[in-house]
Amino acid sequence: MTIKSVGIVGAGQMGNGIAHVFALAGYDVLLADISQESLDKAMSLIDRNLERQVSREKISAADKASAMGRIRTTLTLTDLGPSDLIIEAATERETVKQAIFEDLQPHLKPETILTSNTSSISITRLASRTDRPEKFMGFHFMNPVPVMQLVELIRGIATDETTYKTLLGVVESLGKTAASAEDFPAFIVNRILMPMINEAVYTLYEGVGNVKSIDESMKLGANHPMGPLELADFIGLDTCLAIMNVLHDGLADTKYRPCPLLTKYVEAGWLGRKTKRGFYDYR
Ligand code: CAA
Repeated sequence: MTIKSVGIVGAGQMGNGIAHVFALAGYDVLLADISQESLDKAMSLIDRNLERQVSREKISAADKASAMGRIRTTLTLTDLGPSDLIIEAATERETVKQAIFEDLQPHLKPETILTSNTSSISITRLASRTDRPEKFMGFHFMNPVPVMQLVELIRGIATDETTYKTLLGVVESLGKTAASAEDFPAFIVNRILMPMINEAVYTLYEGVGNVKSIDESMKLGANHPMGPLELADFIGLDTCLAIMNVLHDGLADTKYRPCPLLTKYVEAGWLGRKTKRGFYDYR
């Protein structure tokens, strides 16, 4: 089927980036959230990030204006009913995601494809709770979405070839590159990235280095664009911990044990940039 309209659930850091790239690629976007404040914040961020692209001459002012004009927002989830493609980018909690799909599905067209931007939860399990497991896929964008080239496409056990090929075409239309991953805990990117971040937190916890020396070592010694602790703050320490727990539980190997310091920061509410405190202080 041809995808023209996209319904995005969740206007947080992933949802607003996803809305940005789809609108810029010419899709009609409807962005839903339970908070008007989040929707307003998302629209002003999209405006700012598009402006950044205009000022760097990546897009024209007219491209920006038409992209902004293609995004609508709603507080009513079921308004997403007529969309050709749904991308769920809500909180990384399985019960929340399941409830969203359950509420949505009576309002959807039979041909609508359902996807989740989950970074680690089983696609097969999420799909099995919907009325269309063959039209369900993992559609995992990287942060910041307008900048990062990769999108992971994850097939559940029941996903059909037409759904997979349709989404491959969508990724191409966004000017991004798809990596196909099997449905195992945390897929490819986070299976590799999160243990590296967790190890950096252990390196801090054990006093091998401090925040500055750990980040500088990986930036200058391994050419990473951000140090692992800075990156953890950027992703959100709660998300990092949730992914480590999925790896630990799903693969039953102590090598994925979340560092106690990471757990402690999350318990303190020091979640990184979004709470203005993490391994760095942003206040
Ligand atoms: N929207 C649009 N453009 C943006 C942007 C945004 N939100 N953020 C940055 N940019 C653009 C800038 O305009 C700039 O564009 P040009 O190259 O055309 O000049 C470019 O990105 C670089 O930005 P800056 O110069 O401001 O800053 P920088 O050079 O320090 O790069 C960064 C910033 C792109 C975030 C870089 O530090 C980086 O790549 N960091 C690593 C990010 C990463 O690893 N992401 C993956 C996280 S894992 C994940 O997302 C999966 C998960 O499930 C947790």
